[in-house]
Amino acid sequence: MSWIFFLFLILTFSAAYAALSAAPWVPTRRWDIDRLLQLAQPKPGEKLYELGCGDGRVVVAAAKRYGVKGIGVELSLLQAGVAFLRAKLSKTNTQIKLANLFHVHLRDADIVYLFLMPEAYQRIRAKFEAELKPGARVISYVWPIPEWEPTIVDHKEGKCDLFLYRR
Ligand SMILES: C[S@@+](CC[C@H](N)C(=O)[O-])C[C@H]1O[C@@H](n2cnc3c(N)ncnc32)[C@H](O)[C@@H]1O
Repeated sequence: MSWIFFLFLILTFSAAYAALSAAPWVPTRRWDIDRLLQLAQPKPGEKLYELGCGDGRVVVAAAKRYGVKGIGVELSLLQAGVAFLRAKLSKTNTQIKLANLFHVHLRDADIVYLFLMPEAYQRIRAKFEAELKPGARVISYVWPIPEWEPTIVDHKEGKCDLFLYRR
């Protein structure tokens, strides 16, 4: 019984740590996944990173529908485990990394998707400016990236905003 409690503690601790680091787990709404992928216009073989991929629903959908190489980065053990299983079962070209999104290199990213707390965006913006190659697209859900001019803002009544940026 004590190992169940121990496991529970580890899962809770890692989820709390991730929540404090950049955002708690709140999934992208299912009906917005199509919208954001249409905005990103992924092409087969491109690399799509999802920073804080949660249960992997977005990165796996991108790999399944558009043939991209999906890379989901997640710090919370429970979410990373679910994303890993989802990726395996989907038989798509998706890799899930148990890692801190602030420490993952993004030099080869064609597309980056993120849905984090606004407080994390200042820090991630500096990372994008240092690492992203020219032409890379960044899609942000709900919040804009401070001081960046979006190429497109997808605003639909009653839905969350989506922001597309092109480096
Ligand atoms: C708002 S949720 C979005 C989940 C997923 N992207 C989606 O749209 O369904 C943010 C996710 O980022 C993860 N996260 C927070 N800080 C992180 C960090 N430093 N490195 C990796 N993942 C992190 C959380 O565990 C959570 O699953």
